[in-house]
Amino acid sequence: MKHRIVVASNNKHKIEEIKSILANRYDLLSMEDVGFYDDIIEDADTFVGNALIKARTIHKKFDCNCLADDSGLLIEALNNEPGVYSARYAGEPVNHDQNIEKVLLKMKGIENRKAKFVTVLALILNNEEFIFEGEVHGNIRLERSGNKGFGYDPIFEPIGYNITFAEMEEAEKNAISHRARALAKMEMALFK
Ligand code: IMP
Repeated sequence: MKHRIVVASNNKHKIEEIKSILANRYDLLSMEDVGFYDDIIEDADTFVGNALIKARTIHKKFDCNCLADDSGLLIEALNNEPGVYSARYAGEPVNHDQNIEKVLLKMKGIENRKAKFVTVLALILNNEEFIFEGEVHGNIRLERSGNKGFGYDPIFEPIGYNITFAEMEEAEKNAISHRARALAKMEMALFK
């Protein structure tokens, strides 16, 4: 019998991406599958802290293996803002367009456009905790371009490209994204 891992995310796209890597070796369950509908308060001030809060909450409640993630955008000239506040940078409820607007306004006239996306994965497997991090570096555009992807994709141009994440095909973004890199590290650590 395959071991089970509960993925602490309600984002279907993320679960699919994780499935493509782990599904042959583990039975992956969503929070819905185990009947967990509570809000988990992610009040840590680091990605590692928030990913661990999610993984530990599920692990404690169901005594199961669990994988959780936390991601965000860090902009050098803004002292690494929006960081852990990426989703709600312009306030509640989450509004990606207003978040972008806030970034573009704050970055007006600033020459240093360096930024990176970061993903932290927290895995609790057989009662042991593992952390994996992935990053992708790039620059913040002066204005939006493209309509694919989500979040800050229209203003993020990864190093080595002259298009934004929002102009890339999904597969192209998934090959170099922060999330893909964190997942690749997990795969290496677990299976290689
Ligand atoms: P989450 O922790 O993966 O839900 O990400 C938190 C927030 O970071 C999202 O709501 C987005 O604003 C931003 N973010 C994370 N990953 C990406 C990405 O791949 N593209 C654009 N924005 C992202």
